[in-house]
Amino acid sequence: MTREELKAAAVAMLDRAYIPYSHFPVGAALECSDGTVFTGCNIENAAYSPTICAERTAVAKAVSEGHTDFVRIVVAGRSKDYCVPCAVCRQVLREFAPDIEVICLNGAGEEKVFTLPELLPHSFGPEFLA
Ligand code: THU
Repeated sequence: MTREELKAAAVAMLDRAYIPYSHFPVGAALECSDGTVFTGCNIENAAYSPTICAERTAVAKAVSEGHTDFVRIVVAGRSKDYCVPCAVCRQVLREFAPDIEVICLNGAGEEKVFTLPELLPHSFGPEFLA
């Protein structure tokens, strides 16, 4: 999948977001080293805290299908600001892909690109527990 196709896959997920409370859609497209792509959207809940972000939806789909080797993720929003991953999603990405490229889109489809170490410096990961 090209970079533009990956971005389009994340944007397409905005329409799948279940967001009756925040009305803030987020879409994600997570690419694995073998080219497999897993998409996700945010899924909110009336009890609020069970809400899952788009990025973690994509990670859960990937890991549960046997994929953990992630190379890049697109996070799409519809707001003026670039949709960056929340701290919890950064930590979840860190578990599997400490150097993943994170492509953040705003509502105009413009991008801002980060590496995970830029978003989550001095991070804690599995090797600390070895
Ligand atoms: N959200 C995501 O899906 N990803 C993020 O990294 C930031 C926040 C969602 C959670 C909630 O459904 C809505 O955006 C507002 O916080």
